[in-house]
Amino acid sequence: MRALVFCGPEDIRCETVPDPSPPDERGAVVRIERTAICGSDLHIYHGHMSPDPGYSVGHEAIGEVVEVGSAVSRFRPGDRVLVSGVVGCGDCGPCRLGRVTACERGGAAVFGTNQGLHGAQAEALAVPAADANLCAIPDGIGPEQAVLLTDILPTGYLGAEGAEIEPGQDVAVIGCGPVGLMSILTASLFGPARIFALDSVPERLAAAERLGAIPCDVSGDAHAGIAEATHGLGPHSVIEAVGSDGTIQAALSLVRRGGVVSVVGVNTSLAFPFPMALALVKGITFRIGVCPVPRYWTRLIPLVAQGRIRPEFVFSHRMGLSEGSAAYDLFAARRDGVLKVLLDPTT
Ligand SMILES: NC(=O)c1ccc[n+]([C@@H]2O[C@H](COP(=O)([O-])OP(=O)(O)OC[C@H]3O[C@@H](n4cnc5c(N)ncnc54)[C@H](O)[C@@H]3O)[C@@H](O)[C@H]2O)c1
Ligand SMILES: [Zn+2]
Ligand SMILES: [Zn+2]
Repeated sequence: MRALVFCGPEDIRCETVPDPSPPDERGAVVRIERTAICGSDLHIYHGHMSPDPGYSVGHEAIGEVVEVGSAVSRFRPGDRVLVSGVVGCGDCGPCRLGRVTACERGGAAVFGTNQGLHGAQAEALAVPAADANLCAIPDGIGPEQAVLLTDILPTGYLGAEGAEIEPGQDVAVIGCGPVGLMSILTASLFGPARIFALDSVPERLAAAERLGAIPCDVSGDAHAGIAEATHGLGPHSVIEAVGSDGTIQAALSLVRRGGVVSVVGVNTSLAFPFPMALALVKGITFRIGVCPVPRYWTRLIPLVAQGRIRPEFVFSHRMGLSEGSAAYDLFAARRDGVLKVLLDPTT
């Protein structure tokens, strides 16, 4: 079958790889119907994640179950499913509650981040612990909405939930990439008075504004503008959706005293200079984590199915898997107004 393979920094190619089989009797194989490129894939693309190239990438996908192990009870060949981008053992206490990132058997794993768990930007995918890590696509959920439920919509919601927003409060979201936009969309569910959206890419600031946020261009003096708008106090909550040292620092300095910083950007720095004195004096709450995707399906699926939130606007480009290399280059360069790229593995 074909899959997108990380061959080295800035070098992702569509290659032929072995067909997958169920990892064990609890696993399944899903033929991929649609998959997408995530900002997390860009950390790999830029060579920041793993020194050993040669593995297939991607962790956001939906498709049809084509093979199940003998111990899989909830799914049969022919079922259309969404695949959680992050998977746990499915069996321990936290996994049974959908808290896969707290899995007691080695922690959570993300598809397509190393040689051990193959990637979802492929024609098919081997899924471990299928009963826990798959979800039947319910009526009322379209394919593009379903893809977003495999990672970034739950991640955006994690950022918003962790920000402890109360009605009438002010929120800032740093980074208006797909994840930041999902945070803006879901932060609105908590009733904030204002959401300040920070980025420098005009199309992304415009998308944030369409969601009702106040666009703040960081190539100008966005921080001074927010300080002025909040009478020098800063927003009650800051959601960080970039993952750089600088933007996490910015979140800590922007948030008001007693406020909450909720980080969903991926940062793997081993030497982040955490401004402990500032955090101490301000008395802030700081959260960071990988999203336990299955935990949020019961909340988010009804909101999408009923049209209460409409996340699918985020797909700006639709391309074939064979164009994967060009798709990565486009998304990484933020060219051509790209917000997020959907890939069709059949072309
Ligand atoms: N925690 C999780 O479970 C989880 C899940 C998915 C993605 N992520 C992470 O979320 C982050 C965002 O993902 P994405 O798909 O939106 O990626 P993206 O790269 O498309 O978007 C990042 C955005 O941040 C903006 N940005 C960069 N520097 C900035 C600055 N100084 N100030 C303001 N904005 C700035 C960029 O212009 C871009 O629009 C990534 O780090 C990704 O790994 C985390
Ligand atoms: Zn992702
Ligand atoms: Zn577990």
